[in-house]
Amino acid sequence: MLESICIERLCKVYRARDGTDVEALREVSFTVGRGEFVSIVGQSGCGKSTLLKILAGLLPKSSGTLFIEGQAVDGPRRDIGIVFQKALLLEWRRVLDNVLLPVEIFRLDRREYEAKALRLLRTAGLAEFLRKYPFELSGGMQQRVALCRALLAEPALLLMDEPFGALDTLTRQKMGFELLRLWEEWKSTVLFVTHDIDEAVMLSDRVLVMSSRPGRIMDSVTVDLPRPRQIFTKDTPEFIRFSSRIRRCLWEEVGND
Ligand SMILES: Nc1ncnc2c1ncn2[C@@H]1O[C@H](COP(=O)(O)OP(=O)(O)OP(=O)(O)O)[C@@H](O)[C@H]1O
Ligand SMILES: [Mg+2]
Repeated sequence: MLESICIERLCKVYRARDGTDVEALREVSFTVGRGEFVSIVGQSGCGKSTLLKILAGLLPKSSGTLFIEGQAVDGPRRDIGIVFQKALLLEWRRVLDNVLLPVEIFRLDRREYEAKALRLLRTAGLAEFLRKYPFELSGGMQQRVALCRALLAEPALLLMDEPFGALDTLTRQKMGFELLRLWEEWKSTVLFVTHDIDEAVMLSDRVLVMSSRPGRIMDSVTVDLPRPRQIFTKDTPEFIRFSSRIRRCLWEEVGND
């Protein structure tokens, strides 16, 4: 499998002004294959967002090597889409114009990308809301708009940091399945950060389990459950085996603190 992400011995130390250092990541190494859906789970403060920000080129690493699509990361790039916990839509722009924001930022051909935006919004069930403003949408719908915006320029890699964290359980599960549908159609690589072990197992080809700070990868669990995944996949013994292995790994580490 060709690699989309290749990280070796990545370290990050935050240097505070008062001289106290915070070691956020210690020797993190892993690869993600092209088109693979990989989740990262780990407790709060273990360095997940730090890792994603470094991958997105928004934060410098302290040491180690980092390649995306075969190129060293040295700043933000166009072939990466990012979705954060908050939808971060522009309140004064309508849904369609929010999705088309990358056209202005990257000076793309509006006509070509408008057709893509419409297709994405239709797939995301938002065809009737193109002319609405963000405040007229529910939280889940806003997050779908943010997802469409991240997918517009057909990123090779989609980085998602707790994208459904602010949603209720049911909406969250629905959004997960919608994400899988879009992913199956658009075939980008996804790196998905979550606190929710079941969500990670449900969505992923593989789950990376991170230790508490300084974050290290403790386990890599290949989830070979058949696709398309369905809500009752969760009740199968295989699913339960994967999620309890991850849960145990996280618990054992906390116990050893
Ligand atoms: N800008 C910063 N300056 C100093 N320390 C920071 C900074 N950003 C994060 N940290 C520290 O680095 C560690 C990892 O933070 P990070 O935000 O990556 O955690 P996380 O795993 O995303 O947590 P959560 O699940 O709560 O979002 C934390 O201890 C945090 O206090
Ligand atoms: Mg975070």
